[in-house]
Amino acid sequence: MTTQLTDRLGRKIEYLRLSVTDRCDLRCFYCLPKGFRDFEPPDEWLDFDELERVIAAFARLGTHRVRLTGGEPLVRRNLPELAARLARLPGIDDLSLSTNATRMARHASELRAAGVSRINVSLDSLQAERFREITGGGKLEKVINGLRAARDAGFAPIKINMVVMKGVNDDEVEAMVEFCIEHGFTLRFIETMPVGDTGRRASDHFLDLQEVKARLARRFELLPGMMPGGGPARYVQVAGSDLRIGFITPMSQHFCDTCNRVRLAADGTLYMCLGQSHSFALRPLLRGGASDAELEAAIRQAIDMKPERHEFIDKPGQVIRFMSMTGG
Ligand code: 5AD
Ligand code: SF4
Repeated sequence: MTTQLTDRLGRKIEYLRLSVTDRCDLRCFYCLPKGFRDFEPPDEWLDFDELERVIAAFARLGTHRVRLTGGEPLVRRNLPELAARLARLPGIDDLSLSTNATRMARHASELRAAGVSRINVSLDSLQAERFREITGGGKLEKVINGLRAARDAGFAPIKINMVVMKGVNDDEVEAMVEFCIEHGFTLRFIETMPVGDTGRRASDHFLDLQEVKARLARRFELLPGMMPGGGPARYVQVAGSDLRIGFITPMSQHFCDTCNRVRLAADGTLYMCLGQSHSFALRPLLRGGASDAELEAAIRQAIDMKPERHEFIDKPGQVIRFMSMTGG
């Protein structure tokens, strides 16, 4: 390994979130507009050889964790093949997946065999009709079947990600806690972020997770908790159970000073921050015959542009791309 990728503020970049497609089979209203179809054409996507080459370059620079995201990553054809190729790369010791689980029943065991060890599943409601409304037509049953298949395939941990929104699903936080205790999942609550028009509109339903935590503390005994892996969630443990609950609070308590990640969009654009537009297009280098050394130099140059923090509160209009381009 050469010297570790570090940004100008001394933050080590050891984690890459790879959006393999901006497409999704759902239309969660806070993420994508109803009926949205204006996706990147597939020939703009990096192919598997190109993706493998970029991730190998990151791995040589000390990035050892990769998460496959979307859109919905399982919409991308042959994803398990890509997963297997990335899992084999020297230096990559943690390959995970964020999914809505609608297609998980079909792919769980193949993905597990390919070397994906942990998964995060977006799930905002346990009520079929409400799930359908939030996701613009999604079927809850598919997700529940997907979760079952994932558990049977041996993924551990399985984390449920719930975007908690006032007047939309905030009455379900206790039910979600019970559901995760029953099934042995880890639960994370997420604050709504003003990413894209959709995210900004959904921010009318913003709920500060400190309130949710206080509410849960009335019903459950919450102990200080820990979870391995360098993410931004702050955890508590529910006494008398194995459940850990994480709070992801980009709005009420931002965690930018410990940010360890960058995001690669399906078209090979590297985004330095979820809440900013700083980006660097790697595809022209990949398709223009750049050497590995040139690719690594470009990655370093890009990381030098990583901004100090998001400005969701001061400048909520800033990020115009949809969340499905960078996968959260
Ligand atoms: N605010 C917070 N989280 C969001 N996600 C998508 N849009 C938003 C938003 N505006 C998250 C969802 C989903 C993942 C793809 O990104 O939790 O799980
Ligand atoms: Fe799809 Fe995830 Fe966006 Fe929902 S939040 S539309 S599941 S990419």
